Amino acid sequence: MATIVGGIGTSHVPAIGAAIAREQQQTPQWKPFFDAYAPAQAWLEAARPDVAVVFYNDHGLNFFLDAMPTFAVGAAAEYRNADEGWGLPVTRPFTGDPELSWRLIEDLVEEEFDITSCQKMLVDHAFTIPMKLLWPNGASVRVVPIAINTVQHPLPSPARCFKLGQAVGRAIERWDGEARVVVIGTGGLSHQLDGSRAGFINKPFDRLCLKEIVEEPRCLTHYSVRELVALAGGQGVELLMWLAMRGAVGEHVARVHTHYQVPISNTAAGLLVIEPDVHGECPAFALGQGEGSSLDQL
Ligand code: DHB
Ligand code: FE
Repeated sequence: MATIVGGIGTSHVPAIGAAIAREQQQTPQWKPFFDAYAPAQAWLEAARPDVAVVFYNDHGLNFFLDAMPTFAVGAAAEYRNADEGWGLPVTRPFTGDPELSWRLIEDLVEEEFDITSCQKMLVDHAFTIPMKLLWPNGASVRVVPIAINTVQHPLPSPARCFKLGQAVGRAIERWDGEARVVVIGTGGLSHQLDGSRAGFINKPFDRLCLKEIVEEPRCLTHYSVRELVALAGGQGVELLMWLAMRGAVGEHVARVHTHYQVPISNTAAGLLVIEPDVHGECPAFALGQGEGSSLDQL
């Protein structure tokens, strides 16, 4: 039986990759940001996942406007990265888990999700940067990337992405592979890179998201994509990946760690680590436990 050990939401700003490449993690500007990942790394070390299922959004590396799947599930033995033009070093390939990929694809189609299956898939900064932040010495986990369209409208709704995550969670738990699985959602929090609102950040909305994604994720699924863009910015809509991650981890979760920092590049950077709460306790009990988990710090 496969087990979901927990979930992680994290931003994926390319400037983070540049700071890593230049070894600037301990500079005054970057130290608070990188230090915030230490509890997440320690949690991963203790949780010992074998596989990471990663909800992320491709920004034009693998999919472009000519052919844009709403949901695309990786089914490759290996995922390569390539130069996107951000000046980041190209990372080594990531090892896939085709058996779990096909389990997910079969169950998702069975549950009426019309996904695209990808036996070849390049992964961009939205995948590689979170992997580097969470496993700075190199990831030993196998990976299954799941791309959600946040580039070409119409985008899938928050409710649909949450349901996709729930279906992925069920499929993982039905899988008879002996594996511990961590589910990751990358992107956000609020940001807008272009247009008249370029630089837009909405701290109150980000704080609300970091609270409700743990306690009442369905509050966030009632927004339309238009409302999400208005509240979080054109690219803040990447919250969709966090909702998919949250859906996968299960009904009751406990907060392990949270960090929020404004801005990293143009973006309100968020980090969240959650665990399934097997006792079904009110997640509020978990608040205040674990370093940096206090909501007062948000
Ligand atoms: C930035 C943020 C993103 O999510 C992204 O994909 C690219 C750039 C930024 O803040 O610079
Ligand atoms: Fe992005």
